[in-house]
Amino acid sequence: MSIWRTKSIEQSIRDTDEPGHKLKKDLTGFDLIVFGIGVIIGTGIFVVTGRQAAENAGPAIVVSFLIAGLVCALAAMCYAEFASTVPVAGSAYTFGYASLGEFVAWIIGWDLVLEFTLAAAVVATGWSGYAGDLIGIPTSVPIGGGLTLNFGAMFIVVLLGTLATLGTKLSSRVSAVIVAIKVGVVLFIIAAGALYVKVSNWTPFIPAAEPLPAADVSVRHLPLSQVLLGIEPAQFGLWGVIAAASIVFFSFIGFDIVATTAEETKNPRRDMPVGIFGSLIIVTVLYMAVAAVVTGMRPFGELTGDAPLAEAFRQVGADWAGTLISLGGVIGITTVILVLMMGQSRVAFAMSRDGLLPRGLSLTSKRFGTPYVMTIITTVVVAVLAGLVPIAALEEMVNIGTLFAFVVVSIGVIVLRRTRPDLPRAFRAPWVPFLPIVAALACVWLMLNLTVDTWIRFLIWMAIGVVVYFCYGMRHSRVGRANRTQEGLNTGEKSD
Ligand code: ALA
Repeated sequence: MSIWRTKSIEQSIRDTDEPGHKLKKDLTGFDLIVFGIGVIIGTGIFVVTGRQAAENAGPAIVVSFLIAGLVCALAAMCYAEFASTVPVAGSAYTFGYASLGEFVAWIIGWDLVLEFTLAAAVVATGWSGYAGDLIGIPTSVPIGGGLTLNFGAMFIVVLLGTLATLGTKLSSRVSAVIVAIKVGVVLFIIAAGALYVKVSNWTPFIPAAEPLPAADVSVRHLPLSQVLLGIEPAQFGLWGVIAAASIVFFSFIGFDIVATTAEETKNPRRDMPVGIFGSLIIVTVLYMAVAAVVTGMRPFGELTGDAPLAEAFRQVGADWAGTLISLGGVIGITTVILVLMMGQSRVAFAMSRDGLLPRGLSLTSKRFGTPYVMTIITTVVVAVLAGLVPIAALEEMVNIGTLFAFVVVSIGVIVLRRTRPDLPRAFRAPWVPFLPIVAALACVWLMLNLTVDTWIRFLIWMAIGVVVYFCYGMRHSRVGRANRTQEGLNTGEKSD
């Protein structure tokens, strides 16, 4: 049994027509941009920006966004090439299966499940905080034993899971309206905030490095890069700007999910690059502008709290603007959770259709054309995680999982150019293999700037994945079964 067996691209495309395991093809390039912005702009800009400016980068958080955006742009070139060559559900997982073999594909799929599930839960918890803030009633209650029941987060997850089960088209129509409101609020922050900017708040632009507070000096809380290079633990300074880039990277997560919908797109060869680059360019510009305005409004050390953007406006006396932004946050974050949950169900759907997870999980609904079994399971798991687990600290896990997937996709582009030069590629990444190598190295660099704790948790999750593959997936793989049947026939012919 070979764990390096690949699934041919032709087979992947054929599988999408299998009755009972088929998705509707009705998304356009514009739908994909809306879909991309819907998932990209969320907790990252609404919450993480302020915290990272206060703790790591100061006004240079603008530069952190630029660094993270550039790394994403490099990875996006590779994603766009793959998505336009292999227009099948499952994103990096499917791409990996076509180029790097079943085992690597499984590892990516397992990794994406981690990314999407935790991200949806983290973002739902953030939504719940904003919702509570807006209505003035707590959305979580202590239930004893040190546990808290976040019923606000559970409510939104179940509501959105139901929408996702009822059909992509309905969901994307709802998200188009929400995305318009969200982009409007972000533009409002930039325009209104500009009136309150005090240029003096931008100096020092990169605050001088200073020793970490004693509570944070434990090795497990330090970036792996600092531990490996033996750098004195510090915050701010140039290292702070890079560490912040690794964290604000969270704000960009989502453009990769656009690629998971390739199978539901009318013309993936043209629409995929439009969707991926369109959404990425728009959000990078918006993020840098928001970061510049907010750090100009208040001294960076004050940009803490659960709703830093709204609070920055309250602190300058514009309470009404603060409330408007909170409302925009609640509405805007909704689509992020929805798309993350859809991304998760699509990847697991593709893995199950290939037999690496039980096949029953990839049944689609005849009426709605959606992978309803996987969507319902995803909803339950995310609701339980968001409702019961205090997951704020796991935000970094989402980043490391996503960056790892980017590394594999970048390498996959190089491999597939060598192994299948004949395939038509509607979008070709420039300067291969130089660009994918730089993309992979840049992602590894951001990964190394995440904490030791995050690395340990990530490695444990991946180790579990390896065990599951060898105990289940390897034996039930459809590609493996087909190969074995073929071998059996060949042996039979020889002995005749
Ligand atoms: N990029 C998404 C967010 O910032 C995950 O919420």
